[in-house]
Amino acid sequence: MKQLSACDLNSVLGTGFIAGNVYFLRSAGSTQDLARTLVSSGAGEGTVVIAETQTMGKGRRGAGWASPPGGLWMSVVLFPPGNTGPAILTLAGAAAAAGAIGKAAGLKAVIKWPNDCFVNGKKAAGIIGEKSGGAVIVGIGVNLNIAIEAFPPELRGTATSLSAEKGYEIDENIFLKELLKEFEVLYSAVSSGETEEVISRLKELSGVPGRSVSGSCGGKKVEGTAVGFGEDGSLVIRLDSGLHVNFAAGELALEKETIES
Ligand code: BTN
Repeated sequence: MKQLSACDLNSVLGTGFIAGNVYFLRSAGSTQDLARTLVSSGAGEGTVVIAETQTMGKGRRGAGWASPPGGLWMSVVLFPPGNTGPAILTLAGAAAAAGAIGKAAGLKAVIKWPNDCFVNGKKAAGIIGEKSGGAVIVGIGVNLNIAIEAFPPELRGTATSLSAEKGYEIDENIFLKELLKEFEVLYSAVSSGETEEVISRLKELSGVPGRSVSGSCGGKKVEGTAVGFGEDGSLVIRLDSGLHVNFAAGELALEKETIES
């Protein structure tokens, strides 16, 4: 494994503490698992692990994550203060990815709460936040320059890549720079207790507030109107009964067609 030092990438990327240490690998099982190992051997805040491909990429809820070459597969080690947990940091990751998709690729990304970025109705990026001792590891996967045929057959109808949408390859260095800069701004805001920045980006980019949503929670059907997001990144739904309820990521599975595009 090659470790790049702070001066190799920090200054190039224009970030402060994020990417102070960057581990770059041709192939990894999962950058999440590798970051977890690095945390247990003392990795500091802002350590980044990037792999060109992953053989056992991890998605949310125990799902796998297809990680062919051409994507950006990255994990960031954070030590947030107090009770800042994975949920709001996952949303910060999604907002940063959506921002970078706009700035570096000129595409409009829609955030599908709690962790996906959709472009033209198909999934282009996914984020996962996991606790590891006192750290939170935020994993960001972006389908950057991937031909649709390189995805597993079952994903070809629902996943897309930025290059497939644009018709040409996106500069991965420019993309990474935008993503990490944006993520650092949002993480800094969240860790100093200012979640409004993330929440307002979510409102702007999710297209969710005002929309009818339906899903299931603890085996029960939930129907209502999404009205916004809680400070912790929960989704606030006005139920058809008029009651407002906050759902944390993981508590509510939204039906696909109710929230995309
Ligand atoms: C999801 O949408 O289910 C979340 C996907 C997260 C994928 C990224 S790729 C980099 C990091 N390493 C992993 O194994 N998973 C995350």
